[in-house]
Amino acid sequence: MNLDTRRYAAATQRNRQPILEVLKRVLPPEGNILEIASGTGQHAVFFASELVSHHWYPSDPDPLLRDSIEAWRNHNPRENLHPPLDIDATTSCWSIENKKIPINAIANINMIHIAPWKACLGLMAGAHRILSAGGILYLYGPYKKNGQHTAESNEIFDYSLRSRNSQWGVRNLEDVVAVAEAEGLELQEVVTMPANNLSVIFQKQSF
Ligand SMILES: C[S@@+](CC[C@H](N)C(=O)[O-])C[C@H]1O[C@@H](n2cnc3c(N)ncnc32)[C@H](O)[C@@H]1O
Repeated sequence: MNLDTRRYAAATQRNRQPILEVLKRVLPPEGNILEIASGTGQHAVFFASELVSHHWYPSDPDPLLRDSIEAWRNHNPRENLHPPLDIDATTSCWSIENKKIPINAIANINMIHIAPWKACLGLMAGAHRILSAGGILYLYGPYKKNGQHTAESNEIFDYSLRSRNSQWGVRNLEDVVAVAEAEGLELQEVVTMPANNLSVIFQKQSF
């Protein structure tokens, strides 16, 4: 029996095109992109098919989601879409570090608020370790600004996240930027996205 283990997340269909437009503009023209927290794999399949000069390396710590990513990959095989890696952002050495693949960009979509704060700390530390000089860290999600929600819908979402897990919640943009800058990642741009989300783009400094 051949079970289809593809999972679906409705939000990916809504946000993938606006995210793609930003990625096309801010990514290096070619190179290797590591996705941290790929989830179902829908984004990985879509971005790999649109960013044909790049190699996309999806990852997720959840084995069921890695199965889903692999199932999506099997349905849409592409030379530039690689098998899912087991990476937990909080760990001090990510499995891709053993492969000696230069990483030109890291994409992280809708993770920071649906994970404990230490996942953000780990993400920035990992980006510092593995991004090539000048490499890009791309974040997408909802943020507070100066401690304030930017929309009522984000406030309601934040409340629901914290009810599900007291360590989750919409983060303050300034706190995320401070952690990134401490890891040598300079804020390049904040882009307002549909549905009260932001794209936040950092660049690894060369010193
Ligand atoms: C809301 S889902 C977003 C998935 C996907 N990026 C998307 O936009 O559909 C959050 C993801 O974060 C992942 N995640 C949670 N904690 C993590 C961690 N410490 N390191 C890496 N990924 C993590 C989960 O496994 C899940 O795939």
